[in-house]
Amino acid sequence: MTTVQQPPWVPLLVPDMPSPQELLPWLERMHAARHYSNFGPLVQELESALAQRFVLGSEQLTTVANATQGLELVLQALDLQPGSRILLPAFTFVATATAVVRIGHQPVLADVNAQTWMLTPDIARSVCEHMRIDAVIPVATFGMPHDMRAWQQFERDTGLPVVIDAAAAYGSQWLQGVEGTLIFSLHTTKSLPAGEGGLVVSTRPGLAAKVRQLSNFGINLDPDADAPVGTLAGLGSNAKMSEYHAAIGLASLQKWEHHAHKRKALQADLIHEIDQASGHCMTWQTQGAGGPLMAPTVLCARLPNALARAAVEQACQQARIMTRRWYQPLLQHIDVLQQRCVSLDTPNAEALAQTLLGLPFFLSITAEQRQRVCSAVASTA
Ligand SMILES: Cc1ncc(COP(=O)(O)O)c(C=O)c1O
Repeated sequence: MTTVQQPPWVPLLVPDMPSPQELLPWLERMHAARHYSNFGPLVQELESALAQRFVLGSEQLTTVANATQGLELVLQALDLQPGSRILLPAFTFVATATAVVRIGHQPVLADVNAQTWMLTPDIARSVCEHMRIDAVIPVATFGMPHDMRAWQQFERDTGLPVVIDAAAAYGSQWLQGVEGTLIFSLHTTKSLPAGEGGLVVSTRPGLAAKVRQLSNFGINLDPDADAPVGTLAGLGSNAKMSEYHAAIGLASLQKWEHHAHKRKALQADLIHEIDQASGHCMTWQTQGAGGPLMAPTVLCARLPNALARAAVEQACQQARIMTRRWYQPLLQHIDVLQQRCVSLDTPNAEALAQTLLGLPFFLSITAEQRQRVCSAVASTA
């Protein structure tokens, strides 16, 4: 009897992490300093390298353990009334909403723009005309940057704080020369991977410093503050970045430009190949007024309808190619969130959730794997 050898699965993502050799010099420095956490030299070096890139003072930025903790602590530091209504897009990762609920507020789920797949200042403005909103968390969806000038104008017009969940947007989302608050993820799958990690960047006076304090249990470490050094000044958590993670972040930062360039080129090539294979039946996320996506981390195609998506999913499954329905189901359709959210009319998000499909995207993808993806897509065209 002959057994048919199945090809290995094409993975959806493969983390682009520094090698042990690249990490070693940083780990040796850490060990020589005998400093492994608590804002040690490597965390300070990472923060100062990032502060330079954002052209900010070091007090306007802080590392945290991950973006989810970053979101929670920023929301806590904003000191809104308990039960505040926080507007966010229905089409996002669950952490955007769970952070809001865990801090004691209520997510209000808004629609997204049909082309950029993002909550825009115009959508937020029209919601604010009909109901009380206390803060807004736009999401830089799949790393696509927001127009910070437009959000600054929104903040000025409405008086509402805006916090951008830029989890996947390191290197794409900048402050663009205006005021703003950004939260990035440094998870292994993101564009600046540190294993786990987060970064809070804010021009809002005192916000990043408060988040830093809350990430260290709420203990005051500032000799110039009212509370004595070492006393508990707030009800914080433990969300510090360790020196181990900072070591990975620093090693990743050294090659970030080169890798971002390769990711961008790979994404353009894959879109071109898949467009040809599918007879141009797929659509892709459109750049908004915030500028280009500089370091893509995923590849998301939009099919003309739910049936066409199911056909591509099935063809990929048969060809042993992993796919993912990113950000689905929408937040309002998740049981544990449903009761806790206000759900608005979200026709664009609903349509996206019927038709969006994540395809394999990673720098080490081989020509054979690319060919398999194209053949699977072509078989449904
Ligand atoms: C939009 C969004 N927000 C928040 C997060 C959570 O980031 P972290 O894993 O660093 O907590 C993610 C993770 O993928 C995300 O996509």
